[in-house]
Amino acid sequence: MSTSQSLRSFKNISACVFDAYGTLLDVNCAAQRCHADLADKAQPLADLWRAKQLQYTWLSSLMGRHRDFYEVTGAALDFAMETLDLDDQALRAKLMALYEVLDAYAEVPELLGSLKQAGLKTAILSNGSPKMLATAVKAAGLGPSLNDVISIEDAGIYKPSPSVYQLAVDRLGVAKENICFVSSNGWDASGAAAFGFQVAWVNRTGQVAEKLGFPPHVELSNLTKLAGLVLKQ
Ligand code: LAC
Repeated sequence: MSTSQSLRSFKNISACVFDAYGTLLDVNCAAQRCHADLADKAQPLADLWRAKQLQYTWLSSLMGRHRDFYEVTGAALDFAMETLDLDDQALRAKLMALYEVLDAYAEVPELLGSLKQAGLKTAILSNGSPKMLATAVKAAGLGPSLNDVISIEDAGIYKPSPSVYQLAVDRLGVAKENICFVSSNGWDASGAAAFGFQVAWVNRTGQVAEKLGFPPHVELSNLTKLAGLVLKQ
């Protein structure tokens, strides 16, 4: 399937709930900002750091040994740096500090503003710890456009546990059928669709669709068309 293709249209949406890292916030920009230190290792580091970070969320949930996302992110960075033969504690500290103040993707401020202005509730539902999310939302200037910022820490388990998606229903007071959940992570989109949300998968990097079952309702290449799809119904 090509990107920007609607599989089904949205119906009766009254809230939009967004994944944060990779969906609203550019997870690659920490490594990119250290290009002078990393040179041709910048993208391999960003890719391995992200892959390990997600693996560690799933594994710590399965192990029943929850560690918060800041700790998981640091452990994943240690793994990635060691793999790439980068032994530099100052660089590690710089990358972790930059991860707390990632850029929002260019289309995000206008999108959130127009959803909120149209009367929809807007929220983040993220693996990020409350402190990480508060810092990131403030740095990206997204606070005024969000009704809520919800961390999985309130469920004590990572996505795609259904108990995480339930947090959005409970916090926003909106039935799951009336929530549009938006994620750039195919596995998160599947988890959210399995839970019962209407789902937009933001396939920013042209990835192949997950084969987990529970496909998204809509696939987009970025967030510019989301408001039109959600508000026209
Ligand atoms: C999050 C990760 C999955 O923000 O991107 O929850």
